Amino acid sequence: MKIELLCPFSGNTTPSAECLVIPTYEDGLAEAFGSRLLSPEDSAALLRLADKKLISGKDNYFLSLPLSSYESVLVLGLGKKAGCGPGKIREAAAKAASILSGNKRQALLLDFANGDFCPGAFVEGILLSQYRYDEFRSPDPENPPSQVESIQLRLCPSQEEPGLRKAQNALALAQSVNWARDLGNSPGNALTPSSLADRAAVMGKEFGAEVTILGEKEMTGLGMGSLLAVAQGSDEEAKLICLKYSHPKATKTVALVGKGLTFDAGGISIKPAANMENMKFDMCGAAAVLGAMRDILANKPEINVVCVVPSTENLINGKAVKPGDIVTSMSGKTIEIYNTDAEGRLILCDAMTWTLKTHKPDFMIDIATLTGAVVTALGRHCAAIMSTDDDMAAALIAAGEASNDRLWRLPLWPEHVALMKGKDADLCNTGPGYAGTITAGAFLSVFAEGTRWAHIDICGVAWDHKGSACFKEKLASGYGVRLLSQWVQNLAESSK
Ligand code: BES
Ligand code: MN
Ligand code: ZN
Repeated sequence: MKIELLCPFSGNTTPSAECLVIPTYEDGLAEAFGSRLLSPEDSAALLRLADKKLISGKDNYFLSLPLSSYESVLVLGLGKKAGCGPGKIREAAAKAASILSGNKRQALLLDFANGDFCPGAFVEGILLSQYRYDEFRSPDPENPPSQVESIQLRLCPSQEEPGLRKAQNALALAQSVNWARDLGNSPGNALTPSSLADRAAVMGKEFGAEVTILGEKEMTGLGMGSLLAVAQGSDEEAKLICLKYSHPKATKTVALVGKGLTFDAGGISIKPAANMENMKFDMCGAAAVLGAMRDILANKPEINVVCVVPSTENLINGKAVKPGDIVTSMSGKTIEIYNTDAEGRLILCDAMTWTLKTHKPDFMIDIATLTGAVVTALGRHCAAIMSTDDDMAAALIAAGEASNDRLWRLPLWPEHVALMKGKDADLCNTGPGYAGTITAGAFLSVFAEGTRWAHIDICGVAWDHKGSACFKEKLASGYGVRLLSQWVQNLAESSK
């Protein structure tokens, strides 16, 4: 995919696009159709149709028609100018791109000369809606998939430099989201803890991160009894993946920890068969932190970032951990494992302890497909955030609104932490059965003491994310990449 600026004033560019996209507000048809990119005849034809009220600029209006100067011209209605922000534009662009790629259009020319149609959000909507997962599909010669491959932008002269920069940044960000989606969609046999580590390492080296991968031997030496208890039921070796980015002028260090279960069958507390295939998505927290890291590495903000992924499978061989087993975590705290399916917190707690000891971050976020209960509580339009730090929660929620990876806060009080006390050990890995999302967060909070920390449960949005043409059913959404990248960059700006 490439994006270039069409410079109408340089005089030597003739548009080579198949399709001209003309965004327009409800009351902006005259300016929109006066576009210099249309031939005078086409312009007059569109204005005539507008006069007769046969074309509108109302919200959600799409009209694609062939004209003499292009194979198709797409009129994209955005409704009233007031209140038309990046969110609406991203969505309109996603829908438009779906229509156009369905019609096999690959080269688009976007006419933004008549307003600020948020080139960043627009490009993001196009890229996110065009995502496909075809890795294991045989090619269909009758009907090869068609995607948008190039975008030319025409911007008003004062907007050219910042507009093109926003579009290029959005392109890079969306490519990281789509990279994370590929990880998420990979089936458990194609993505094991070792191959996840390999893919993270390849990306990290390409983008200039310092890469460290620990295996089970090192984990044993470090006393990661909780992580290893989950891993002992699988023949695949567990990995702790760490990518580090440092900036010479950084004053703060941020840690992003993502749950990397490449498949979660539940262990001895085995899951029901229905929908168990979705448990390949149990590494979407890992995909989120690695995808965000990819974008951060490309943008080089003035901050240090460590990205940590504990990765294993939760299976049942003869050595699998049993309900009632008591293990000792790296922190020294003992944990009674009542339900082997509550394994996410068991691997995250050791990863968090290791992260605090090794990297001493000022802020730590963990992100995980942790509880089915969060889908019941909040549905599939947002993720849940829990934090013991109000400012950090507020900054993350704001980054979520800006990036459209939305968050909703749940309480996390000492009363919830008390519910996670063990009977015969310090902690138990399950709570009383109510407030399952919060008690999971409460369990993790014990391992974050003394650090500004937030926990994000993405079970409802990691796949089947609803409410936007940017996402596809039954595919990983890449949730968290935009959120975390935005938050890290906001933090870098504010701590300069
Ligand atoms: N990976 C699952 C969470 C999950 C559940 C994702 C359903 C998608 C759909 C997690 O490891 C898990 O099994 N959580 C348990 C916790 C319970 C045993 C306390 C759950 O939510 O049922
Ligand atoms: Mn589980
Ligand atoms: Zn799980």
